[in-house]
Amino acid sequence: MPSDEPQTPKFYLTTPIYYVNARPHIGHAYTTIVADVLARRHRLQGDETFFLTGTDEHGQKIERSAAAAGVPPQQFTDEVSAQFRGLWDRMGLTYDRYIRTTDPAHKQGAQQLFRELYNRGFIYLSTYTGSYCVSDEAFVDLPAGTPCPDCGRTLETVTEENFFFKLSEFQKQLIELIEPRNSGSKPDLDITPDTARNEVLSFLMGSTEVLIAMGPQAFGVETLEGIRQTTLWELAESKDLVRRSREGLPYVVGALRDLSVSRSSFTWGIPVPSDVQEASGTTQNHVIYVWLDALANYMTAIGYGSDDPEKQAELQRYWPADLHLVGKEITRFHCVYWPAFLLAAGLPTPKQITANGWLLFDNAKMSKSRGNVVRTETILDAFGDHVYGKQFPDSTKQERDLFAADVLRYFLLREIPFGQDGSFSFDALVTRYNADLANGYGNLVSRTLKMIATYFDGVVPECSNRLDLADFKPQVLHLSPEEEARRAEEEASYPEPATGVQDDVRNALTYELRQIGYQITQADRYISELQTWKIAKLDNELSRTKLADTLYYAVDSVRYLTGELYPYLPYATARVWSQLGLGDIHEAAKLGKLAKLDENGMTSGTRLNVASLAPIFPRADKGLAQIMIDMEDARNPPSAPASSDPGAAPRTSTSDPVTENATTLTVGGSSAQTPTLPVTPGPHTEAQASGVYAATEIVQPSTPAAAPTEDSPTITIDDFLKVELRVAEILVAERIPKADKLLRLEVDLGTERRQILSGIAQYYSPEELIGRRIVVVSNLAPRKMRGLDSHGMLLAASEGPDGKPILATFGEDIALGSRVR
Ligand code: MSP
Repeated sequence: MPSDEPQTPKFYLTTPIYYVNARPHIGHAYTTIVADVLARRHRLQGDETFFLTGTDEHGQKIERSAAAAGVPPQQFTDEVSAQFRGLWDRMGLTYDRYIRTTDPAHKQGAQQLFRELYNRGFIYLSTYTGSYCVSDEAFVDLPAGTPCPDCGRTLETVTEENFFFKLSEFQKQLIELIEPRNSGSKPDLDITPDTARNEVLSFLMGSTEVLIAMGPQAFGVETLEGIRQTTLWELAESKDLVRRSREGLPYVVGALRDLSVSRSSFTWGIPVPSDVQEASGTTQNHVIYVWLDALANYMTAIGYGSDDPEKQAELQRYWPADLHLVGKEITRFHCVYWPAFLLAAGLPTPKQITANGWLLFDNAKMSKSRGNVVRTETILDAFGDHVYGKQFPDSTKQERDLFAADVLRYFLLREIPFGQDGSFSFDALVTRYNADLANGYGNLVSRTLKMIATYFDGVVPECSNRLDLADFKPQVLHLSPEEEARRAEEEASYPEPATGVQDDVRNALTYELRQIGYQITQADRYISELQTWKIAKLDNELSRTKLADTLYYAVDSVRYLTGELYPYLPYATARVWSQLGLGDIHEAAKLGKLAKLDENGMTSGTRLNVASLAPIFPRADKGLAQIMIDMEDARNPPSAPASSDPGAAPRTSTSDPVTENATTLTVGGSSAQTPTLPVTPGPHTEAQASGVYAATEIVQPSTPAAAPTEDSPTITIDDFLKVELRVAEILVAERIPKADKLLRLEVDLGTERRQILSGIAQYYSPEELIGRRIVVVSNLAPRKMRGLDSHGMLLAASEGPDGKPILATFGEDIALGSRVR
């Protein structure tokens, strides 16, 4: 029986579950910290909050990492998962449940979801043709007829059964779930920031490029050349190639394809339930596609698939999730696949999905594959031991960790406008710490409390309200002209607030901490302007009252700001709260006192905890940044220095398949202008002469790339330098309908974003390309293919008789736009 009692609002938020193929780094910590801040804010507001995090432990990648480490996958995942959890505990993160996809309850739940989708008719068994090594019983992503990379036997063409999910049936429903409402109300699934929502929408809607690629016949015209974009869409609509969503968004019918949701070429995964396998008549053993397995965690963690009534009640209470926090690279999985699975299973979809940007190090996304990671432990150890430990030699390791965790929390949230990429550097960390925490908040607290200790014996004075100090309230900003100018400058460098629907997450994470910063500056200035130390020297009634009023306002500001800062700096604010004589801040938070900071001012007569007055944020020495750099280097000895420094000594990469049979690639940062090369039909002889050829817009596997021969014509260095090769990152990769060989790529060249069409669709899937750093022939004249502009070519080696392209990549971290020569 539902009760009439109004229920406490609930808030269920999740982080992505982290792959256990690598140790945690501060990129992972970033998302988890953001979740922790939001969880604490919601608890403050009295919401029944549930914060979930955990690890993603299945799939080929993990299986391989375990094999490389020489341990069984379960043991491997046990170890790495424990490292993640141990780190979150060191940092005092307040997750409510830690899920592992190897948990039996999760496996059961994921199987239940798969079964449900199958029983409802949204999963079917189908086949696709691929290359197979019979000896190894393995599918290989190489053309049939070529040697197997493992055993050398010739690959055969076989047909593999696969379970597919009918994603294509959900195109309209998904668009309508997330599209902006003309009424201005929130969509059922609110994707923020706008950039993330637009990216997902355009994926779902299909693009002009997709229409063009259908060719003129589909439109019943001779040619599409010269047709304006709007006309093209209208024409498409008249041919029923384009339809409209409820709010009027046009979408290309069929732009969404079905999705393979099982694999049978490896075993480290959750088996497709045996009843489904039987019912489908499959003869293979399938494991559930790792993303379906992983996404299901958000429900299995709170009881989906369990028979336990308590668990079921929890599921009822918390599902749908109020917020999935995700990195921007995994929005498609969360905003397209996940809601589609849920719609198909007849389950409610999450309410909000918010994408955070990336933490960059040396201008590239911090990630294991790039090797440019910064470990959270380094920051915890350095700040814990060299700053806190130095000030408080008797402190415990736990106190040091929690102190240092606050430093990292503050830095990440203050420095990076939420939703955007942000660069991490040790120098910036130390500078921000000293400026905002040691000199800012920490200094405000200690000077205020010291003055009360000195002039009022540590007791909060009475406030006569005779001074007109109303402006002293931090809630009302009255910045001085210089402060205002600084603030305006800073605001201008931040992105505009999200348009349309109000986004609480973004407000919380982007504006609040900045606002608190201005409030601290203002409070500090008031104390200085009132020249308390001078008033204190005057021995008369008026000056005594003035001093009392000033310090009352000052200490009340400290109380107010401390309450506001609590979700961001839980350890430091707890110390301040205690110094203020207010007891345990965590208790105050639970009692809802921190949600009403305006209502209850500091009570006069409160005795400060004078015995505990000690610096909250001791200053960090300048050398701390170097200490951290050295710590990182010691843990991770640098191999050959990756550099985009033009003066750096050229390095030889011996493991790169491209360089093995080619001239050495050296990496430099020259930005010298080079001419645009005309596109000449036929093979690209300059590059081929060295065994490297550009995977042109269309690779012709039937025309094997020329191997270097004795009589290849030699070229001069000047000839070679005419070809401008640059490092780029693949941002977008997608298939082009009705063009089997072509992929449409968008690449970031550091200074510009380009579209390149590349004939590698038979060899690379779009998913495996995104995020790769590759080499682009950047001064190739643009050309049109299938009506689409292609500007540049990818560099690839050509392997085997069919000329399979292998993209040239880097073993080291490399800045975008670096010149390759
Ligand atoms: N296992 C999947 C997620 C499955 S969720 C059902 C996965 N794992 S991951 O470990 O590769 O990354 C997970 C998340 O870690 C990212 O989405 C992002 O939130 C965070 N980050 C990892 N590297 C990061 C940066 N360099 N910067 C910011 N966040 C980063 O994808």
